[in-house]
Amino acid sequence: MTLHPDKWTAKDFGEDFIWGVAMAAAQNEGAANSYGKGPSIWDNFSRRRGKIRDGARPAVACDFYHRYKDDLLLAKALGFTAFRFSISWPRILPEGIGTVNKEGIAFYHRVIDECLHLGLTPYVTLYHWDLPAALEKEGGWSSHLMGKWFNRYVTLCAEEYGAKVKDWIVLNEPFGFTSLGYMLGRHAPGRMAMSSFLSAVHHAALAQADGGRILRKLVPGAHIGTTFSCSEVIPYTQSPEDLQAAKRLDILMNRLFIEPTLGKGYPREDFRLLERLELHNKAWKYTDRMAFDFDFIGIQNYFPTVVRHNSLIPVIQASEVKARTRKVPHTAMGWEINPGSFQRILSRFWRYGGVKKILVTESGAAFRDSLVNGVVDDYQRIEYYRAYLHALLMARAEGVNIKGFFAWTLMDNFEWAEGFRARFGLIHVDFATQLRTIKGSGYWFRDLLNAP
Ligand code: GAL
Repeated sequence: MTLHPDKWTAKDFGEDFIWGVAMAAAQNEGAANSYGKGPSIWDNFSRRRGKIRDGARPAVACDFYHRYKDDLLLAKALGFTAFRFSISWPRILPEGIGTVNKEGIAFYHRVIDECLHLGLTPYVTLYHWDLPAALEKEGGWSSHLMGKWFNRYVTLCAEEYGAKVKDWIVLNEPFGFTSLGYMLGRHAPGRMAMSSFLSAVHHAALAQADGGRILRKLVPGAHIGTTFSCSEVIPYTQSPEDLQAAKRLDILMNRLFIEPTLGKGYPREDFRLLERLELHNKAWKYTDRMAFDFDFIGIQNYFPTVVRHNSLIPVIQASEVKARTRKVPHTAMGWEINPGSFQRILSRFWRYGGVKKILVTESGAAFRDSLVNGVVDDYQRIEYYRAYLHALLMARAEGVNIKGFFAWTLMDNFEWAEGFRARFGLIHVDFATQLRTIKGSGYWFRDLLNAP
């Protein structure tokens, strides 16, 4: 099948294709210090000077906590039939373990009920980066107690919501939160130690599989997945040093979590960091426990990574050659726009034996949007989605079993270390007034999804 890049419709994706839109608690909800919620690592991290652009904080964000009904109505009006959101662990367990916050529990019942009422299938992410601060004090993801804490939290969610929610995502991008939060210090909790990172990786790999097992046991008919960030890694030159650098980064960015999930254990290659990972955690003992038979995997790919050897970078000895330097098309985040690379990464993850189904659980782009006379003409985002959805169709034509696409994100929100500056939404948010304005790309989806 060779569909013209512009001549396809939603029908080409099939009747059973899931069209969703995604968001996350810490990025959208606000009400960070009210209704019994405990502080998360992001609430604390954002108070540290210089960590978040413009000193932004997630305390109010999009005020989804109070506006969820209107926001869900907007998602519905744009034609989506699935809504991916996350549960804030510290909202329902303010101390991470122990006392349950009834108001928090009730909030997610309201959100789920409203989704069901509108005909939006709820896709619930259990962990989208907002660890209870109380648990970080005890070591967070680098503590071996994480298994116990996470299991308690997942059990509570499954027992509370399992009768209504069948579609579950255990972790959002384990490589993202372990590397940015525990090795590079750029995200909460802001740690920068290789040993913390290695422990966090291992506890996340275990939590991911354990979480899947708990859901399988407690939620009859559950459809269970987990998400992986991924990025095609391309060597800058064909020199042996650059090829090796690309190989190391590929292991970290693409293989580190999916391989244990599929029962293969951690990638075993000539890379000192992996030996340390194994030794540090006695990981060879856990190959079976890190595996789980997920019903789907969520792929989240925002850009390819071009890399070259750099002996100044400890252990990894590689650095990225940015899209801006290479003068290729990129988004406001500086991320290369490359739909062909998206297609290749989808096929690659499919080619791992054992993946049953792929959902693209996030895809989107930030641009410098401006609201002029009540209109946001984000033509670049429309072009982006048009190209990426076409690439997805091409991957399907190659035989990749992709059954859904979730746009990132419904509305501009708290973009982690980038604060409110990076706008990814299909809906513009004026953060001073909370006024929502549907962007051109939002209308584009509405027309795509509602076409006769
Ligand atoms: C993902 C993350 C989202 C969102 C997006 C855009 O890695 O899961 O929360 O921030 O990136 O940066």
